[in-house]
Amino acid sequence: MAASVPIAGNRFAIIGGASLVGSATAGELLDHGAAEVVLFDNFAFGSDAAIAHLKDHPRLRLVRGDVMRMADLLRATEGLAGVLQLAAYMTLSMDRDPWSGLDVNIRGVQNVLEACRANGVRKLVFASSNATYGYGPGVAGELVEDTPFHSAGAPPAAILYGASKIIGEQLCRDAYRKWGQDYVVLRYSTVYGERQHYRAANALYIIETIDRLRRGEAPQVFGDGSETKHFVYVGDLARANRMAFESGATDVAVNTSGPAPTTTLELVQLVTELLGGGKAPEFIGAEPGKVRLTSGGAFRIAHEAAKAAIGWAPEVDMREGLRRLIAWRDGNEGRNSNEERGA
Ligand SMILES: NC(=O)c1ccc[n+]([C@@H]2O[C@H](COP(=O)([O-])OP(=O)(O)OC[C@H]3O[C@@H](n4cnc5c(N)ncnc54)[C@H](O)[C@@H]3O)[C@@H](O)[C@H]2O)c1
Repeated sequence: MAASVPIAGNRFAIIGGASLVGSATAGELLDHGAAEVVLFDNFAFGSDAAIAHLKDHPRLRLVRGDVMRMADLLRATEGLAGVLQLAAYMTLSMDRDPWSGLDVNIRGVQNVLEACRANGVRKLVFASSNATYGYGPGVAGELVEDTPFHSAGAPPAAILYGASKIIGEQLCRDAYRKWGQDYVVLRYSTVYGERQHYRAANALYIIETIDRLRRGEAPQVFGDGSETKHFVYVGDLARANRMAFESGATDVAVNTSGPAPTTTLELVQLVTELLGGGKAPEFIGAEPGKVRLTSGGAFRIAHEAAKAAIGWAPEVDMREGLRRLIAWRDGNEGRNSNEERGA
């Protein structure tokens, strides 16, 4: 099908590329023979540390640019076959600065689409989120691609984030209808893995749990620990991004979640076991003033549609993914990343 973009021999840009998902995907595309991968980022949140392992790669080019500036995007996307759009403000950043977040998550996406049009980029892969199902008491059960958005009872920043991703998705659909722009939307669930940052509320909890146990403190569990989380390992997402380019799929939005959901208590128990033991968890109520993302009950983010559309299924379970995250954190790169906490 025409929408398929092979990786080998083609050039790609990752917009918002100095990031958790961007750094993993750049490695994946380079390993599969991409002629060039352009990492485009204004370093609002991204860091040199996130891409240090790649920066001397002969087929990688780093471009400092801003999605709010058309000229930057037009230059960076010249002659490309595919663009992965990751640049975004997530919930915690949206909470601090909603207008910048809405600008980047909405106008930024439209600017990337316009640049793809101007330069004849064949396919856009857009990083959306399970935040498009919302948060709060309404989110429960099997979350499939046509599950509606729930906003009642959730923090405003989470709703602004989820709604901005819904708008981003619709801008992609609009571009497909208006000028035939091929695209695939991937709705990532909470990402974790090597080069983990402190900007995503749920993954932050994993890092905080590791840190507390390492300091000899008791890990904290909110409520009774039965709250569901559904994570996905960053390497699995890098593969999903690659497969979205390679597949013939277009004009589609699919979930990309890990093999199975977990509860916060199971997560804490698994981290404790992987660290070789530690204090028993302490059960506490909600922390005042902190944005926490809660759901109404047990849920699972279904990823079967991704298999049908792009041939992807998750491979790395929480035990293996956490083992890799802990190994990275214990290595030099992970320890140094602690210094960027304020980013
Ligand atoms: N991390 C998660 O748990 C998660 C879950 C679901 C969806 N997503 C989505 O996946 C994508 C990547 O997530 P991540 O965790 O790698 O994010 P990240 O915060 O590491 O990356 C976002 C990147 O965008 C860049 N950026 C921000 N504003 C920009 C601008 N104006 N111009 C150019 N670059 C800009 C930042 O500097 C950063 O490097 C995002 O779109 C996010 O919404 C992430």
